[in-house]
Formats: sequence, structure tokens, C-alpha cells
Amino acid sequence: MINNHLFYQKATSDDIKKFIIEQIKDKHFVYLNPEHSLELIRKNANKKTIEIKNFINSWNELEADQYMGDGGKYRKRRYATLSSDVTSGRVELEDHQPHFQTKYYNNLNGNIARHYEPIANEIIKGEIMESIFYLSHDLFTELSPVGNWHIETHQFRIESTDNQIGKPTPEGIHRDGVDYVIMICITRNNCIGGESTIYDKNQNKLISFTMKNTFEMVILNDKELFHGVSPIFRKDREKKAIRDMLVITFRKK
Ligand SMILES: [Fe+2]
Repeated sequence: MINNHLFYQKATSDDIKKFIIEQIKDKHFVYLNPEHSLELIRKNANKKTIEIKNFINSWNELEADQYMGDGGKYRKRRYATLSSDVTSGRVELEDHQPHFQTKYYNNLNGNIARHYEPIANEIIKGEIMESIFYLSHDLFTELSPVGNWHIETHQFRIESTDNQIGKPTPEGIHRDGVDYVIMICITRNNCIGGESTIYDKNQNKLISFTMKNTFEMVILNDKELFHGVSPIFRKDREKKAIRDMLVITFRKK
């Protein structure tokens, strides 16, 4: 079990932010349970109430990833690019553009500009996403104050069906090639597996855990750590297994 989570349940959002900064400085990653993660998202949102159901259901509207180097049909996604300015503190949606990683960071699907459907307007501009962007902008800018941020946001669904296992990280143990990565669990249905592991710079295993609950959050320093997730299989073999995640990366421009 993860040992660097915040133990006390009555933490305020300021306590939680302080804890995140301490953990990332000290261990390069932090785990937040859904209660603490939601407390932060709610406190940071402009509106008093946040619309969680529509947010989660938007993962039902993702499109098949056509660029899988292994020919797999197990991944669906949508994508958006944003940027943020450390002086004004503003986060802006950029024009829709392809996603690009080098082969160095993605041996399976690198060196190709991959065109994905945009994240729905009401989701990318909605109060939950906005809250997460401003929250992460503030945290990462406190950790690394100089230089503006290039932000990439991915809605992912991994499915396991009759004829395929689902691979959340088909490229294996990897870094994303950015500064910081945020992973938020959205839905996990009928899954066995999908265990996340974090490794140090030399790929020595540090910790493994399975993200199961909506809004469980892990933030990691991608310059210091590698990560990977094991395949998912079906618990009930009559139904699909589904693992939905929100992944947001921050890279200095
Ligand atoms: Fe990754």
C-alpha cells in the first residue's frame, strides 16, 4: 500500500496543497485519495457545485486510437492542448493540434504526429477541468517558477474484450518526456490488473498500487521517475473490462 498519502481525513485544501508540494519535493510523487482530491477540485472551482456525472459520462464518447503500433484496438481517447502563463496565472486552450512524442519517449508510437478528436467543449471548459488546470498550474509553478507551461490533456479508455487484453501503457515502462504528470482515475469496471508501478531514474521499482476509485489522483515528477501500468483482464468474462483515466502533462515551453 502507498505510504505517502495524507492520513488524516479532515484536511483542508491548504493542508492538502502543502502536503503535495512536500511530497513532490521529497519523493517526486504524491498519491491523493478521492476525498482529498475532490476537496481540492471543489475548493478550486469557480462554481459552488460541480457536475460530476456529465464529466464521468464524457468518457463514453471517446474515439478509437488509430495509431497503435501494435495494431491494438483496445484504446479510445480524446485530446486537448493548453498553455499557461506564470506571470498572469492564466490557462488558455490552444488551437487543436496533433499529439507528438519522440521515439526516445515512446518506442511504440513515437515520431508520428497523431491526430485525435478534441475533448468536448463543455468538458474541457467545464468547472472540473478548469479547477484541475488552475490547481496544477499553481502547484507546478510553485515547484518550478521560471518559464511558462505547455499542457496536454488526454481522456483515455482502455478496454478488454473477448479477443483482446487491454494495455494501459503498451509502450512499457516509460517517462512521458515532460516535467509533471497528473493521473486521475475516472472509472474502473469489471477489471483485473491495471496495477500502476512507479520506478526511479534507473528503473528500480519504488511502489505499486491499483487506482480503483473515481478522482483518486497521482502526481509525479516525470524528470525523476518512470511509470507503467499492467494490462487489464475481465473479471466477469461475459462483459467488457473498462479503465478510464484522465492524464494531464505539464512541460516547460
Ligand atoms: Fe505515461
